[in-house]
Amino acid sequence: MTGSSARVAILISGSGSNMEALADSMGAGHPGRPVLVLSNRPEAGGLAKAEARGIRTAVIDHRPFLGDRASFEAALSERLEAAAPDVVCLAGFMRVLTPGFIDAWAGKMLNIHPSLLPKFCGLDTHARALAAGETAHGCTVHEVTAELDGGPILGQARLAIREEETAESLAARVLPLEHRLYPAVLRRFIEGERAPLMLDEAVEG
Ligand code: GRF
Repeated sequence: MTGSSARVAILISGSGSNMEALADSMGAGHPGRPVLVLSNRPEAGGLAKAEARGIRTAVIDHRPFLGDRASFEAALSERLEAAAPDVVCLAGFMRVLTPGFIDAWAGKMLNIHPSLLPKFCGLDTHARALAAGETAHGCTVHEVTAELDGGPILGQARLAIREEETAESLAARVLPLEHRLYPAVLRRFIEGERAPLMLDEAVEG
């Protein structure tokens, strides 16, 4: 960490709502500050949101590298290293990273996943939770390891699944939980706290 604050890089692929929540949480008195928002997609809506906050942005478009994951990750790593982050937050970043890339950032990289891991690794988590008849669902922040959506759990936020819930309504209810959980876990992580933070939404009905 340089000076009094941890340098935080955030990787996005889309709207960047989790990036916004993280960036907005790092105000005065916070032990971290956002130093880079990096996207694999030039059209990611989160880039403009980061620029509006005065956060440096960069794009490493994955499409020219299609089929050559190693070269894409080499370019990604080079740009990331230039920002010298103490913490790397994956926030809606939709590229699968190889163990080689992940090892280079071991112990510094976090991800948020929209399920109560270890349940429902991978995609379409809300629909799968409904199909499985789950009564509770939520999101998880974990350290990124070579195992997809694996790694030590640093926090979870949980809610009760309601009657007549759809995948869309569930996603809409989980996303605000993500925006509460990720900033809280990031602060703890920077402060050296590794015990999982468990948040429960007391939901009526
Ligand atoms: C969120 O549901 C998050 O759980 C997943 O990507 C989705 C979009 O995130 N990782 P964002 O709005 O781009 O932060």
